[in-house]
Amino acid sequence: MSDRQAVDKLITAPFTGTPVMETVSSLHGLRTIIERWKRSGYSIALVPTMGNLHDGHISLLNHARDCADRTVMSIFVNPIQFGKGEDYERYPSTLADDKNKLEKYGLDLLFTPNLDQLYPGGTDIDTRINVPGLSDILCGEARPNHFSGVATVVAKLLSNVQPDFAFFGEKDYQQVLVIKRMARDLCLPFEIIGLPIVREPDGLAMSSRNAYLSPDERRRAPEIYKTLKAAAESLRQGNKSMDEIETEALGRLQEAGLRPEYVSIRRTEDLQRPAPEDTRLSILAAAWLGSARLIDNLKVRVKPT
Ligand code: PAF
Repeated sequence: MSDRQAVDKLITAPFTGTPVMETVSSLHGLRTIIERWKRSGYSIALVPTMGNLHDGHISLLNHARDCADRTVMSIFVNPIQFGKGEDYERYPSTLADDKNKLEKYGLDLLFTPNLDQLYPGGTDIDTRINVPGLSDILCGEARPNHFSGVATVVAKLLSNVQPDFAFFGEKDYQQVLVIKRMARDLCLPFEIIGLPIVREPDGLAMSSRNAYLSPDERRRAPEIYKTLKAAAESLRQGNKSMDEIETEALGRLQEAGLRPEYVSIRRTEDLQRPAPEDTRLSILAAAWLGSARLIDNLKVRVKPT
């Protein structure tokens, strides 16, 4: 079905409560549908993704559907958030499977732009959104332009969909904060909502990149979550310094055969180093396992010291 037919079908269909998913690839098609929905007074939720959908994405979709009359998901692997030598070219693409899942879970509109739609001037652009400070720490240290790439594409999606709510998973907790800060600083009238990590039964945070793990690596991968849980327990007990806890956690990951980039205890609110009076903390980790870069985080409440 062409974008034109999809638009016609979607904007003329009466709202029966049983969503019929349509797919558009052009900004024109997307904007036409959004405009009609806005005129009808529907609230809209957006779930931006890069596809290869798992239960974490489905949880975002379910919340989006609970919050708004109409739900849009985008699937777009955004080149400018990948560094040189990262996995842009091999990022798993499973569009047919993704569409089947989305039909089942009741998405209204799937937006699958191509590169030209979102980067009409090419991807080597100077116009980018930077959220300095927050983007330069933790994952931003190893991936210098990553968060500006994320903020830029999310700004494009938000400004075209104009959602009341946009949903992001907290496995990428730093990403959620970067997007919230961007929305605040640019006075964007969209509510940015982060939702809890969805885990496999053995604790591994769901991620499209888990597909890169060999069976042996997959068996070892839950060690990240176990390490975070042990670190959280040490923090709650309050007998060790934060430096000691981080060092122990790094050692534990190395012993399990992972190559940790960082384990860091931060303030949940803004990812700064905690002050003694801070009680809402997060432990965040990034580690390589084979060719997969895995990230995870855990929130902890502690007593003020
Ligand atoms: O989390 C992701 O999948 C991506 O970073 C996002 C938010 C869709 C932007 O490309």
